[in-house]
Amino acid sequence: MASILSSLTSPLSNPLLKEHPYFVVFLLALGSLSFAKFVIKTAGVISQTFILPGKNLKKYGAGKGAWAVVTGASEGIGREFALQLARKGFHVLIAARNTTSLNNLAAEIEAQNKGDNKVQTKVLTMDFSKPNDVAQWTRFQSEIEHLDIGVLINNVGRSHSCPVDFVDTPIDEMDNILNINVNATVHVTRAIVPGMAKRKRGLVISIGSFSGVSVVSPMLATYAGTKSFLSSFSAALAEEVKDKGIDVECLNTYFVVSNLSKIRKPSVMIPTPKAYVRSVLAKVGLPCGALFTGRPHVSSPFWSHAMLDWLMNIIGWKMFFARYTHDLHRSIRKRALRKQEREAKKQ
Ligand SMILES: NC(=O)c1ccc[n+]([C@@H]2O[C@H](COP(=O)([O-])OP(=O)(O)OC[C@H]3O[C@@H](n4cnc5c(N)ncnc54)[C@H](OP(=O)(O)O)[C@@H]3O)[C@@H](O)[C@H]2O)c1
Repeated sequence: MASILSSLTSPLSNPLLKEHPYFVVFLLALGSLSFAKFVIKTAGVISQTFILPGKNLKKYGAGKGAWAVVTGASEGIGREFALQLARKGFHVLIAARNTTSLNNLAAEIEAQNKGDNKVQTKVLTMDFSKPNDVAQWTRFQSEIEHLDIGVLINNVGRSHSCPVDFVDTPIDEMDNILNINVNATVHVTRAIVPGMAKRKRGLVISIGSFSGVSVVSPMLATYAGTKSFLSSFSAALAEEVKDKGIDVECLNTYFVVSNLSKIRKPSVMIPTPKAYVRSVLAKVGLPCGALFTGRPHVSSPFWSHAMLDWLMNIIGWKMFFARYTHDLHRSIRKRALRKQEREAKKQ
């Protein structure tokens, strides 16, 4: 005990240091380097998330007559993107199925942005679950053909109605998720990016999810798979078009209050669409919580999502999160089935 104490108070007298001085110095250097790396990375994440501004949207034509296209814009996050992009000076083309909601949103946008800030809107009723509906895709193509599109928000998305094992997933639910989240997104992007390349400017944002980008998500296999697709698709596309003045990113989104999440009350971890979209538009081009996590062109801009993303990457123990998520989804399914039973009995 006395020798341990004396070696602590006087490290040079430590026999290990005396016998293997180079080895001890090597270990100390390695430890210091790892610590310095951790500090530098954490400082990067914190400054991107809380201090640094993202790219100015004027780069993509804000206030200069450019348009923003938002898919799935009648509700939730998409609706908020349309409202905030209009406020930033983009004309907006909004697409979804519910024509009444879209028309109301267009009227709200035009009423809010009059005079010098006059914003034009276009409403496009589209069912993105129908990739083979030639008539609607021809209409889409002819609506966008002559527009100077500066921003594309690939927001439209559908999840499972409730967590479910892959083998029990209804086939039509699976097809809808694949068609909306993957096929429609790829088609819309394919239609819009060539025009952006010609004009040498553009921003393409796709809404990913923690369930595909950060964690293994048992019982949401199809949905999570489509969100992983978006992350990989965005990263590849981003590299191809970066020399053409186009920025592409995939958002790593934890929960947001919406119909899709079935969460009605905001909290520290679960922002409203308004707060979430504000953070996205303020941090364009900054990975924030996804910085140094080996996922190029992924961004976690909302502060608490950024911290969670960063923390999960530090912990790194993916199987722990997979098991936690599996248990969580099992219990969500149990509760949902019990609720369905209660409601069936009431009728
Ligand atoms: N909320 C979250 O916690 C969360 C987390 C991670 C990622 N995300 C992603 O964020 C995106 C937006 O989600 P949200 O939470 O805002 O969902 P939401 O409130 O349910 O809104 C979905 C939007 O998509 C439209 N839509 C759905 N199916 C469509 C179809 N077949 N054709 C055309 N439009 C369709 C809906 O409008 P109509 O009904 O009028 O068609 C609505 O405007 C999705 O990609 C989602 O995966 C959300």
